[in-house]
Amino acid sequence: MMRDIIEDELYSSSIIKEPKTLDFDYIPEELPHRTSQLRQLAQLFKPALAGLSQNAVIRGPVGTGKTVLTKKFCQRLVGIARKEGKIIEYVHINCRKRSTDSMVLLGILTHFDPRFPDRGFSVQEMLDVLRRQLQRREAHLLLVLDEADALLKKSGSNLIYNLTRFSDDITQPQTPLSVIMISQKDVISELDPAALSTFKRSNVINLAKYTRDELFDIIQQRITLAFHQGTVLQESSELIADIASGWGDARFAIELLWKAGMYTDEQHEQLLIPEHVRTAKAETYSVVTETKLQNLTQHQLLTLLAIAKRLQKSQATYITTGEIENTYAITCEEYGEKPRAHTMFWNYLKEIEHAGFIQIKLSGKGHLGTTQLVSLPDIPAKVLAEKILTLL
Ligand SMILES: Nc1ncnc2c1ncn2[C@@H]1O[C@H](COP(=O)(O)OP(=O)(O)O)[C@@H](O)[C@H]1O
Ligand SMILES: [Mg+2]
Repeated sequence: MMRDIIEDELYSSSIIKEPKTLDFDYIPEELPHRTSQLRQLAQLFKPALAGLSQNAVIRGPVGTGKTVLTKKFCQRLVGIARKEGKIIEYVHINCRKRSTDSMVLLGILTHFDPRFPDRGFSVQEMLDVLRRQLQRREAHLLLVLDEADALLKKSGSNLIYNLTRFSDDITQPQTPLSVIMISQKDVISELDPAALSTFKRSNVINLAKYTRDELFDIIQQRITLAFHQGTVLQESSELIADIASGWGDARFAIELLWKAGMYTDEQHEQLLIPEHVRTAKAETYSVVTETKLQNLTQHQLLTLLAIAKRLQKSQATYITTGEIENTYAITCEEYGEKPRAHTMFWNYLKEIEHAGFIQIKLSGKGHLGTTQLVSLPDIPAKVLAEKILTLL
């Protein structure tokens, strides 16, 4: 019996023809609505083809294509350089996974030598090994520090300083090395003056949140890549774009598409309809919330917790920022934190709104001055409070 169920499921047909094109690390041939940014990168890195160093920062909120854009560009650049007989070694480091100088260097060195020992070398020694590797290969290193803020937060900007200095150290032969830092935050302002001097302020590419229509195009592309023809209703992609536009996040949109597709398969149906998207959204929300919460700071979490607590107790849709600030102060004390001043509190609210958790609007009637009202449109206050508690 059991075996038959399993066999049935394994052989049952799927509306998805290429599941791997729905993976987060899949890089599509074309990136809709990122052409001008690819062009900008190409202009910026023209000198790299001639063997000169260049640095850049790519900034934008989660899911705006920072990683995929950079990977696409770097892979193309490596290919084009190769055709000209030049060697560019491209190494992509995720600094959330490698957040110390030696872990980053180890990541780079294992690109050149997979058996490079993972202990026993100091940072300085690893820098020397790297320099020799590049000189021996006559290669240009194109280093991408993805989620660079994690490295800066944990280890400061020493490594960036040391690496970017590689190329203009007059006591050594030229070692061309270009760095691209990717971050949601303004990493430039976190560099100390020495590192900053090598990182030109102008080389920042800002990626904006995707609009609803842009998300629609991205979703249409994935449907063509991933699904059998005629298995996804246009209404479904419209709905996905509508839902994801609240965040401008392509990752969320693709995740919804993927989950809705899986759900359609589970139901043994051949058509992905809007109801399947709604089901997927209900499942996905919790995952999205969790990753977004992890990006908040301690005091942003405390502020959001204050909102959730207030709304949990109240029958109202909206609460005032004054009420929230009182609860925030009490919540801070519970956690042994000193409540921050009013302007900081106000920043937290703005950032939480920006992250898509709350909506803030001006009260229309009767209050003295302008009162701001806060609502929590998308998630039960109780669920949110529980999630925050696990993080504090
Ligand atoms: N313009 C685009 N066209 C096609 N897919 C995109 C585009 N922008 C982002 N994506 C996809 O959305 C997801 C999130 O993109 P990613 O580059 O990881 O965002 P970020 O690094 O900014 O958080 C990935 O699956 C990526 O392939
Ligand atoms: Mg990324």
